[in-house]
Amino acid sequence: MTSSNVYKDCSKVLLLISLIIGFTNAILPKSIEVCSRNDEDIEKCIVNSVMKLQPLLASGKLDDGYEVPAIEPFRYDDFIIEHGPNFRVEIRNLESYNGSNFSIEKFKFNIDKLTFDFIISVPKIRLTAKYKLKVKLTVLDIAGNGDMESTVKNSKVRMKLYGKLIDNSDGTKTMIFEKANVRIIPGESKIFLKNLFNGDPTLGKVGNDLINENQDLFLNDIVPVLEKQFSEIFKKVANDVIGRATVDEILPDKPVN
Ligand SMILES: *[C@@H]1O[C@H](CO)[C@@H](O)[C@H](O)[C@H]1NC(C)=O
Ligand SMILES: *[C@@H]1O[C@H](CO)[C@@H](O)[C@H](O)[C@H]1NC(C)=O
Repeated sequence: MTSSNVYKDCSKVLLLISLIIGFTNAILPKSIEVCSRNDEDIEKCIVNSVMKLQPLLASGKLDDGYEVPAIEPFRYDDFIIEHGPNFRVEIRNLESYNGSNFSIEKFKFNIDKLTFDFIISVPKIRLTAKYKLKVKLTVLDIAGNGDMESTVKNSKVRMKLYGKLIDNSDGTKTMIFEKANVRIIPGESKIFLKNLFNGDPTLGKVGNDLINENQDLFLNDIVPVLEKQFSEIFKKVANDVIGRATVDEILPDKPVN
């Protein structure tokens, strides 16, 4: 059998499995409280619904058969930032803690455009990773390879989801999210790199101080990478959560009690 046949067979099996799951599972995770599209304060209703989900988002286990990526810890993909021979930063095994302790500061829902626009604040995040870097600039000249620890206080994150309705063959409509935009505005952050300059304590201290004084040199590159990763996950989670339900089930026109 050629590999393309194997691929076709696999996709048929996957389609069958998703159809079976779609028919036998509950349509929405039971932990989700739906809001009527005619609710006069639908924004407040959606915020309450998200906040009730918050403890479950930490583990990602929303309901039997509904698992989404956990926020505690949140695991990022490895990445490398390189600008010529004098600037190379490699980050592996990046994880963040306490991101699930967020609060929603503002929320706007546009029912015609199906946009969901959240501004959340995150009081404190702890990040751990393995780093490898070589940076030689006028303001700093550092190199090292080891563990990274960081804390970031009082960050704001704007997360906007763009929904769209799809017509199903049975006359119902499903909402899917085509796009998610995430903007991170980091608050006050402290970075600590262990083993800078092969663990030389004096140079290590100087290097860490310089890094903390020149954080923008790193954050300007790193934040967009994290935003992109976060947008993808956020879109996936949102689609996983609602993708099996029709829009009448997610935003019913009748009041919800
Ligand atoms: C913060 O993270 C630690 C693990 O690093 C965890 O034990 C603690 O419960 C978290 N607290 C909150 C409020 O999320
Ligand atoms: C969790 O959030 C509360 C209030 O929003 C804050 O007071 C507390 O310090 C936070 N804890 C952590 C570990 O981020």
